[in-house]
Amino acid sequence: MAERKYLIAGNWKMNLDVKSAAELARGVVARAARFRNVEIVVCPSPVLIPAVAKILEGSNVGLGGQDVSVQVSGAYTGETSADQLLSAGCGYVIVGHSERREYHFESDELVNGKVKRALASGLVPIFCVGEKLAERKAGKTFERIDRQVRVGLSGLDAAAMATVVIAYEPVWAIGTGEVATPEQAEEVHEFIRGVLKSMFGAEVAAATRILYGGSVKAENARDLMGRPDVDGALVGGASLKADSFGGIIEGTGV
Ligand code: PGA
Repeated sequence: MAERKYLIAGNWKMNLDVKSAAELARGVVARAARFRNVEIVVCPSPVLIPAVAKILEGSNVGLGGQDVSVQVSGAYTGETSADQLLSAGCGYVIVGHSERREYHFESDELVNGKVKRALASGLVPIFCVGEKLAERKAGKTFERIDRQVRVGLSGLDAAAMATVVIAYEPVWAIGTGEVATPEQAEEVHEFIRGVLKSMFGAEVAAATRILYGGSVKAENARDLMGRPDVDGALVGGASLKADSFGGIIEGTGV
């Protein structure tokens, strides 16, 4: 099996300000230092990125955006381009988060464009997929995930796909405190790896990191990441405190 390095990413969402973000970044840097075999990333709001970037300099904590424009540059008020993120020190960007899909009406096709735009600038997309509660209840989980993965990653070749990270985030588990069981997570992660295999071949499928997201905490991280196809976590609420985020990193067990 391919070696997959764990990745723990903190999605700070629309929280914190310049001062508190800098403080949190300092706390994360301090706790992350001893984990040399885990990739650790924080994703602040665009306006906080420069302050956080300064603190992360020289550390083993990477920086990511929470969204990226599908456009290259120009008259797109309120948007942030991939090149802008890159120039501010980002190496990663979350793409297709369920909150973007839900509140900003992002389609699978738009998300696909954003994945490609991120890759074209050399950013690592953390590409999110996940079913809603109604879809799960209707037995449509795999159908939904299949479409999100196939459309979201369409047109990529194996070389491009080699840098993409996938995050499986069941919408019903985000910010609700209701975490998927390790079995539920593993089942979908395994399914996603199967879809990747059919799209990009066995080697790419085995090398792609698939993170779980949705109410991950220090207390449940170890069980989730102990599953064979769970390669890390995308963390919202629990990434806003250095101690709980540190506890999740610890949960990788490496
Ligand atoms: P949560 O958010 O950890 O607060 O559930 C996860 C996410 O939205 O990425």
